[in-house]
Amino acid sequence: MEEPQREPWIVGVSGASGTPYAAAVLRALLAAGESVDLVVSRAARLTLLDETGVSFRDGHWRDDLRSWLARGADGKPDTYLAALPDLSGDVVRCWRPGDLAAGPSSGSYRARGMLVVPASTAAVAGVALGLSKDLLQRAASVTLKERRPLVVVVRETPLAGQTLRQLVALDEAGAVVLPASPAFYAGASHIQDVVDFVAGRALDAAGVAHDLYRRWRGELGGGAARSAHHS
Ligand SMILES: Cc1cc2nc3c(=O)[nH]c(=O)nc-3n(C[C@H](O)[C@H](O)[C@H](O)COP(=O)(O)O)c2cc1C
Repeated sequence: MEEPQREPWIVGVSGASGTPYAAAVLRALLAAGESVDLVVSRAARLTLLDETGVSFRDGHWRDDLRSWLARGADGKPDTYLAALPDLSGDVVRCWRPGDLAAGPSSGSYRARGMLVVPASTAAVAGVALGLSKDLLQRAASVTLKERRPLVVVVRETPLAGQTLRQLVALDEAGAVVLPASPAFYAGASHIQDVVDFVAGRALDAAGVAHDLYRRWRGELGGGAARSAHHS
């Protein structure tokens, strides 16, 4: 019998602040049994180092990814280590950001869709204009042209008019523009709750099942009660 085809989610991590959002999305995709093709931009390696202390090296990406995903939003290691799946097989592939011959640079490469998390304004501009200056931007443009789901978790504030116009262009091209904008009705007593809410909404937009946050159930007053519960 033919092997089932691998059909990954492409996760592009660009150099906006917010690498904990990417970690939460990656952990939840893996927990949901999805495979992942990962592209970490050069600038994202700076934000990752700054926010977690992890150096992301192409030659040691499995170790570095494991070290990153083991950390919570507070940057402390080992929080999630026990729950991490085995990263040694083909569940995760990592592509160099400058590798424009990589799988995700072609529409004929199988993929479910792509999440850009976090998305820098530079990545927003590049994808809106179709620049394809690196693999992350090329893969996002391919995702749009193939009419696959593209979720862009933009992180910048305030937003310049130019970026706002580019976000409208992405929306019109079929992307879901999902600002890293947490709500507090799900109960937020810890920084990880805030991160998980944004990551969960990104996965909702992609149609991936998760239990990262507590959904609104039509009753006021629950957010405060849930915060107390968590503390
Ligand atoms: C520590 C740090 C934090 C940054 N935070 C943001 C941010 O929140 N949003 C943003 O749009 N750019 C941010 N930048 C700037 C981007 O990294 C920069 O525009 C870069 O060119 C993005 O490249 P990329 O889209 O290829 O990752 C930050 C840069 C650094 C070094």
